Amino acid sequence: MITVKDKQFELFIQHQQIEERIRVLADKLNADYQGKHPLLIAVLNGAFIFAADLVRHLTFDHEIQFAKFASYEGMESTGHIKELIGISTDLKGKDIILVEDIIDTGFTMHSIVPQLKAKGVRSVEIATLLMKPQKLRVELDVKYCAMEIPNEFIVGYGLDYDGIGRQYKDIYVVKDSQ
Ligand code: IMP
Ligand code: MG
Repeated sequence: MITVKDKQFELFIQHQQIEERIRVLADKLNADYQGKHPLLIAVLNGAFIFAADLVRHLTFDHEIQFAKFASYEGMESTGHIKELIGISTDLKGKDIILVEDIIDTGFTMHSIVPQLKAKGVRSVEIATLLMKPQKLRVELDVKYCAMEIPNEFIVGYGLDYDGIGRQYKDIYVVKDSQ
């Protein structure tokens, strides 16, 4: 068990299982993008560890950039969608793979995808480490998802609670009844 700020969290997904699921997801990408040259856009801050582990399993040529898009504070999604910032190249005609840590309500990805399409990209797909299908509030086509989880708040492996807890190798779930 770990304590992050005022909350206690217990072990939920071990690092080895995370690695196995990332490998499976990478295999799917490897099958679909062979011969293409996509641009991965990893969404900061949460996706930095996932992105680093994912790209080391990719066998096709690709580029990666890190973009910022904050829409989350504390334990509830605010739903306040801001613009994607930090992309330095022309996206016209590119195949984009959005690399995200977790899809919760789906609002973040739901607002990013049209922004990218408006820039004339050839394709956009989402590759997320985690997804909470029960929390999804918008229609979203998530082609690549490593793991689905129930509607619980988690930390570790890049995910934070109020900015803390990203460093853990395993993923932890908040203990309710507090
Ligand atoms: P959405 O727009 O509601 O899908 O929120 C997605 C973003 O919320 C993710 O990129 C995370 O940064 C954050 N988030 C959602 N659920 C969790 C969680 O359980 N732990 C930590 N961050 C989360
Ligand atoms: Mg995120």
